[in-house]
Amino acid sequence: MSSIFRHSRHLACRQKSSSSFMGMQSAHFCTTSESPAAPRASGGDPAANVHPTERNKLLVLGGTGFVGTHICKEALQRGLPVMSLSRSGRPKLQESWTFDVTWIQGSLFEPDKWKDVLKEASAVISCVGGFGSNETMRKLNGDANIAAINAAHDSGVKRFVYVSALDFGFPSFILRGYYEGKKAAEDALQIKFPYGGIILRPGFIYGDRQVGKIKIPLGVLGSPLETALTYAKSATQIPVIGPLFVPPVKATSVAKAAVRAATDHAVPPGVLDVWGINRLGDR
Ligand SMILES: NC(=O)c1ccc[n+]([C@@H]2O[C@H](COP(=O)([O-])OP(=O)(O)OC[C@H]3O[C@@H](n4cnc5c(N)ncnc54)[C@H](OP(=O)(O)O)[C@@H]3O)[C@@H](O)[C@H]2O)c1
Repeated sequence: MSSIFRHSRHLACRQKSSSSFMGMQSAHFCTTSESPAAPRASGGDPAANVHPTERNKLLVLGGTGFVGTHICKEALQRGLPVMSLSRSGRPKLQESWTFDVTWIQGSLFEPDKWKDVLKEASAVISCVGGFGSNETMRKLNGDANIAAINAAHDSGVKRFVYVSALDFGFPSFILRGYYEGKKAAEDALQIKFPYGGIILRPGFIYGDRQVGKIKIPLGVLGSPLETALTYAKSATQIPVIGPLFVPPVKATSVAKAAVRAATDHAVPPGVLDVWGINRLGDR
């Protein structure tokens, strides 16, 4: 049964901030010691507890994942109201920021069950993707995201950011479904969001990855590699092996670029490679 969990603390103490989001005043969440209200579960329809309010929220698809949590945190730091949708809904993580996100439980494969939450969203960022058999990867990276892109388009969302992936050009039997899925979702995004569709194509993403209650600091590997490869951009032009020289990118940079792309109309539609992600993330 689908359910939506809404935390009331941030809604109760929301203040107007001077920054703007999608042309509207954005919300700024206060962090008082007010004790959190118990999460509330709907009786089946995830949209049932979503009150009709102005369309001013950022919806992160897969906000419980590695990249998604960094995106949620980045958006909250910018004072944006954030919703996350994933099959697990609210994460087990008990860090304070998690109480400022509206956690929605649902699957991208079933947009009819959650599409009403899109009425509150100005922008959507999708971090849903993953690995498995070729068929699974094609469906998850492709079909699931295409369903979300179509639902967001039909609901009038203006900007949609898709966290895709750099194609390292591996032989076609390796990760074929993964890249076919990514490509299909990218194509759908460019058709449905010709003015507000942004595709991020990172290679390896590093940063703190939460596994249950344990934090794995993948930066220990990624950071020196990024430093080494940042100055080897010309090597990426080498036929066949060139993409292997594309530097890894910090999860925080991906998050900054994604949130910026979702909220800043000055960011043009199209594809951002690793260097584009870093440029946008550093601004
Ligand atoms: N990590 C990297 O180094 C890297 C590099 C390049 C590109 N990428 C891309 O970046 C994106 C995010 O990667 P990640 O490492 O953050 O992945 P992740 O940690 O596995 O997170 C995936 C997220 O998607 C959700 N999800 C999976 N299936 C879903 C479904 N059917 N409906 C709704 N939500 C679903 C997961 O939550 P539930 O399981 O609870 O549903 C989770 O929140 C992916 O598209 C990946 O291909 C990652």
